[in-house]
Amino acid sequence: MKYIIAPSILSADFGNLQRDIEMINQSEADWFHVDVMDGVFVPNISFGFPVMAAVKKHATKPLDVHLMIVQPDNFIGEFAKAGADRITVHYEACTHLHRTIQLIKASGCKAGVALNPHTPVTLLQDVIEDLDLVLIMSVNPGFGGQQFIHNTYKKVQNLNRLIQGRNEELIIQVDGGVGLQNISALVSAGVNAFVAGNAVFATDNPTETISKMKNLLST
Ligand code: DX5
Ligand code: ZN
Repeated sequence: MKYIIAPSILSADFGNLQRDIEMINQSEADWFHVDVMDGVFVPNISFGFPVMAAVKKHATKPLDVHLMIVQPDNFIGEFAKAGADRITVHYEACTHLHRTIQLIKASGCKAGVALNPHTPVTLLQDVIEDLDLVLIMSVNPGFGGQQFIHNTYKKVQNLNRLIQGRNEELIIQVDGGVGLQNISALVSAGVNAFVAGNAVFATDNPTETISKMKNLLST
């Protein structure tokens, strides 16, 4: 099983963004997690295309773009152009989710759907075969540094049941409050991709923290 660590640049030092990007490039991390917030879908605004393009310019690893925005269809082409390799939209923000997934794929990106903590995984049963990734939010989206919601374990197990015989290649990602303290338990529940913001960037040695996370995944 290949496990993915995706540090979230939301927790990076934006005054030293290039330095932090290089740190991730040199580390054992697999992807850059890029959190885009519009101030409407979530009560926060992060950054948009110019920052993403700047990240793309320096990043040597794939950009995993998490769109916390309403009406994502309007921007999928532009995010693909700005360098997204994967685009994840929120179930709660898509009236025509099937169409949105097809749009992401047509743009040349891998397609993911994120679920807020209150949204059951069963709502994905009619699109599960079409997806490359499901992101289970383990905090309410909008901010880094929040506390992990325990019910996430149950949701991961339910999702694992849902994909049996239907899409076993699906990547199951968790995002929010993930760190050295819960990675092993999440692996046991069936998670294979981990987003980590504060757990990486709020430590004295982020490179070493990423390496410790990777070690937990290989034991
Ligand atoms: C939250 C974002 C997360 C966030 C995670 O809305 O989607 O990606 O950066 O931050 P931590 O790991 O600090 O909870
Ligand atoms: Zn995210």
